Amino acid sequence: MTTTARPASVWDNRESLDALPVTDVYKDWQQSEGVPVLTGFYIQDLKTVELAPWPRKGGSGLFVNLEGAGGQNDMHVVELAPGHASDPERHLYEEMVYVVDGRGSTSVWYDERRKQTFEWGPGSLFGIPLNASYRHFNTSGVNATRLASVTNAPTILNLFHNNDFVFNNPYAFTDRFADEEGAFNGSGTAYRGRQWETNFIADVRGVDLPEWSDRGGGGRVMLVELASNSMGAHISQFQVGMYKKAHRHGAGAHVIILAGEGFSLLWEQGDAEQRRCDWRPGTVVVPPEDWLHQHFNTGVRPARYLALRMHGKRFIQPANRGGEDAIAISGKLGGWQIEYEDEDPQIHAIFESELARHGATCRMASLVPWCTGG
Ligand SMILES: [Fe+2]
Repeated sequence: MTTTARPASVWDNRESLDALPVTDVYKDWQQSEGVPVLTGFYIQDLKTVELAPWPRKGGSGLFVNLEGAGGQNDMHVVELAPGHASDPERHLYEEMVYVVDGRGSTSVWYDERRKQTFEWGPGSLFGIPLNASYRHFNTSGVNATRLASVTNAPTILNLFHNNDFVFNNPYAFTDRFADEEGAFNGSGTAYRGRQWETNFIADVRGVDLPEWSDRGGGGRVMLVELASNSMGAHISQFQVGMYKKAHRHGAGAHVIILAGEGFSLLWEQGDAEQRRCDWRPGTVVVPPEDWLHQHFNTGVRPARYLALRMHGKRFIQPANRGGEDAIAISGKLGGWQIEYEDEDPQIHAIFESELARHGATCRMASLVPWCTGG
């Protein structure tokens, strides 16, 4: 019997091996776009945040990577000067567009001969169907338009790590959009559970919302599934003198305040220290993954926000851990919500002192056992 010598292992000289070259394709792409990146915990006002020229968008803009997005999704703010249009583009990441300001139109197509064009104004929300070509037009000769999109570009660019595949791919997802007439006319399908499936909502600030008491605050909500996306959205409203129950969930829910005045408290489970974010229309806050957070209305009108999330409900996604259904279920039952009777009484004390500062009245007496009603 013969024995063969053990071949030299690559590990024998491991001290001399190079470090693994770790690449963040999303960050590299972002840098190549040449526009600033806004980081931090929240944005005070989307309407006034400063932008820089963004050649590929045909205007100016900014990337937003807030901490709570966890590197999964991002926001692109784009402004078009009066009469200007963006260059046509398409990509394999999803994009939900909220119109912060201004009026214009967007053309969307797979087949150039069957372009679908629709008009939008302040408060409009629409989804760009995956990999469809699109182009935005500012139709005003006087005012700028400002758009804020939430995209899953960070996930998609890093997943495929091939920008040519993501930005220059001819595949048409005709199961999502088939260049059909009326695809963006605002029609849709309502489903049980306050769900609305559509490609376009003319004004999320004014749309009717059905009641939903499970999350507290005399709340109303409409869950929105846009453009057959994997990402999802919802519009939520809660009453004067009230606040919502604390809860937690995954990363990437970009909460854009549409109306009202108030504040949010956010804290890591088991951590006594709370972050506070005061808000008004235009504020954006993204609760970090699994952080408890709670929204408080101290204003004189109902508070309303739009949440543009990483995960929708229409299509099951492994990364979502089935968690979207736990957001309104008590922690005592295995869910991710703190019921009023289980919350730290200090929370209510903070709310009441804020109301007092605003000369407003607490309307939580029927919901919170230790509410003084003032
Ligand atoms: Fe939330």
